[in-house]
Order: sequence, then C-alpha cells, then structure tokens
Amino acid sequence: MRTLRDIDQLRSILREHRLRGQRIALVPTMGNLHAGHLALIACARKHADIVVASLFVNPMQFGPGEDLDGYPRTFSADQTQLSDAGCDVLFSPTVSALYPNGLDAQTRVHEPVVGEGLCGGSRPGHFDGVSTVVSMLFNLVQPDIACFGEKDYQQLAVIRKMVRDLHMPIDIIGVTIVRADDGLALSSRNGYLSEQERATAPVLYRTLCSLRDALKRGDPIEAALQQGTAVLSDAGFTPDYLELRDLMLGPISADTRHAMLLAAAKLGPARLIDNLRVELPASAINTATK
Ligand code: PAF
Repeated sequence: MRTLRDIDQLRSILREHRLRGQRIALVPTMGNLHAGHLALIACARKHADIVVASLFVNPMQFGPGEDLDGYPRTFSADQTQLSDAGCDVLFSPTVSALYPNGLDAQTRVHEPVVGEGLCGGSRPGHFDGVSTVVSMLFNLVQPDIACFGEKDYQQLAVIRKMVRDLHMPIDIIGVTIVRADDGLALSSRNGYLSEQERATAPVLYRTLCSLRDALKRGDPIEAALQQGTAVLSDAGFTPDYLELRDLMLGPISADTRHAMLLAAAKLGPARLIDNLRVELPASAINTATK
C-alpha cells in the first residue's frame, strides 16, 4: 500500500491506473478505523481493481464546541489495518493542502433537502462540510465507485443526492452497519464511553428494535416514538431525535411501507447515532396521518 499526502502524486498515480482501464474505488474516512471501516474496504475490493482510502479529519464538518481537537487520531494503526485489508493507496492530505485559503474562503457544497433536520438540525453546517470535502475527494480521486456506511444514513442520503444533482459519474454503495455482539453500532466515538456508559450504549439499538416490532404490529407511531424516547432518557441518554422517515428521509405518508427509524442521543461525552429499517403494515395509514 502506498501512503500519499501530496495531491499531485495522488493524481499522477491514479492517472496511470485509469489509463490501464482499472476501476477505482474510494473509501473516505476520518481514521480511527474499526471493523465497520474494514467492511467498506472489503466492499470496495469487491467492486474495483484499485482501492483508495482517504484519511482526513475534516475540520469543516465539526461545529463550534464539537470534538475536532479530541477526535481520536491513530494514524499508524490505521495504516496497518488498511494495508492488511488490501487497500492499495492511502491518501492522507494536510488541512492546508485541502483548504489552502482557510475554511472561511472555501467554496462549499450545500445540499438543501435531505440534509435538513435530524443531524443536520442539531449540527448546523455539518453536511455542508461533509459534502464539500467528499466532492473534493471525488474530484481528486475520480473514483468509479465510493463506499459509505449505512450507520450515517443521512450522510449517505446527502451524498447520493449530491452525486445525482451534480451529475457526478460515481456509483455510491451503502454498506450495512457493523455491530458489536451486544448490538451497539461500531463508531469511532464509542471510544469516548466509560465502562458503565459502554454497558448502557446498546439500549439505543434495543430501543430501535422494540420500536420496529411495535410499528410492524401496527402500534400508533407517535405514541411508540414517545415511548422509545422515554426509554432512552430513563436509561441515561439525552435523546436528540428519534424519528420515523421514508427511505429518502422525507416525511412518511399513508403510502409509506418501507421506512427508517433514526436516532441520535448523547451518552456521557459521546453523541451516538443509529438507524433501523422498518416495514410498515397497511394499518399504519391511519396512525401516520394522525
Ligand atoms: O463518515 C465519515 O467518516 C466522514 O463524514 C467522511 C465521509 C469521511 C467525510 O469527512
């Protein structure tokens, strides 16, 4: 695996692969890799000849008071994991290489629909930061495909929409959430949890599972969501949102059969997010419109 920091070097190496007709996959990351990231690399390996991972803790997607400075940086362990997983190129630029004129002077990409509400509501500007850096990485790598985890479901929806809206010739592949044995979705931010908080954390996923079962049975939606929020609060979380949306993150309607439960909640120092797909019965019609 080659590790590159330099944009010109990255471009010239990838140009050679492209000229040979090889398909290129990109896996964008912020490092501190876990099995969820390795599943993205495995997916990329399946779909392409050359796998490029980027590792860049993107300051533009962190709001004031968020964890940019404390974000775990584990570069050499990440490098070893990527190389062992069969990644061909690791691109890890500096902040000044990607944003030479500083963040304030930087052209930004704004997706105005699916990035509204949910995490976009609680983290203003977050998805502009994600869309901007991802489109920059797409321009630098020019991948045929790019893999993103479904844990960040809204991020995946924003990127799919951005690629469609801007006619970028890239297939976006969503990769299933990787969970610990107790159900907790793997996340770099799980490392912020104390032992006791870590023991509580799977309540988030268990709550989503109970809600899914309740909604499948036809329980009233609003009441079920309120009950789920109460369960999270009682367990020690500070819920940010617990919502049911359609698969494109629009509001559910009488016709919605396939939906997503999406949750974000703070537990101690960590803000955890998770989601679960739900199949709604026809009887959800009345409760969805109430
Ligand atoms: O999901 C992430 O780790 C980041 O949001 C991404 C896609 C690498 C952009 O910085």
